[in-house]
Amino acid sequence: MRSEKISPPSEDKRWKIVDTTMRRKGYVPSALIEALHSTQEAFGYLDESALRYISASLRVPPSKVYGVATFYHFFTLRPQGKHTCVVCTGTACYIKGASALLQTLDKNFDIKPGETTSDGEISVLTARCLGSCSLAPAAVFDGHVAGNLEPQTLMEQIARLKE
Ligand code: FES
Repeated sequence: MRSEKISPPSEDKRWKIVDTTMRRKGYVPSALIEALHSTQEAFGYLDESALRYISASLRVPPSKVYGVATFYHFFTLRPQGKHTCVVCTGTACYIKGASALLQTLDKNFDIKPGETTSDGEISVLTARCLGSCSLAPAAVFDGHVAGNLEPQTLMEQIARLKE
């Protein structure tokens, strides 16, 4: 069991989802893969702050956490784009039109989830649930959640990112 309280990288409530996963497992080092999965499902990718938080919480050396995160192809490290747009494809968002959002991105920028625009501006990812189902369909733009999105509002959010 973890004795001291380790603070998550930010106030983002999605860390609660990740922490619940680790707590359920008693913060044992063998919960590493599950913690990485939980993080990716909530955020769409794993960045350095996430890897460090998991490393400290489970008391697994960062080198091991990086090793596992880069070894398995189902884990995605933070993409190269200057900005990120993570579209939720969880059940609630899917039902309310997440696929139309992804099609809009494909049509306008010729990018699919996991890809970055050729100018290096925007990377698009998907997550399984952002924990904001009442806002479905939702997406996170550079860390900020936006909900009730439609193709047009999605494009407005992207334009705002680039400003
Ligand atoms: S399913 Fe999209 S936020 Fe929960």
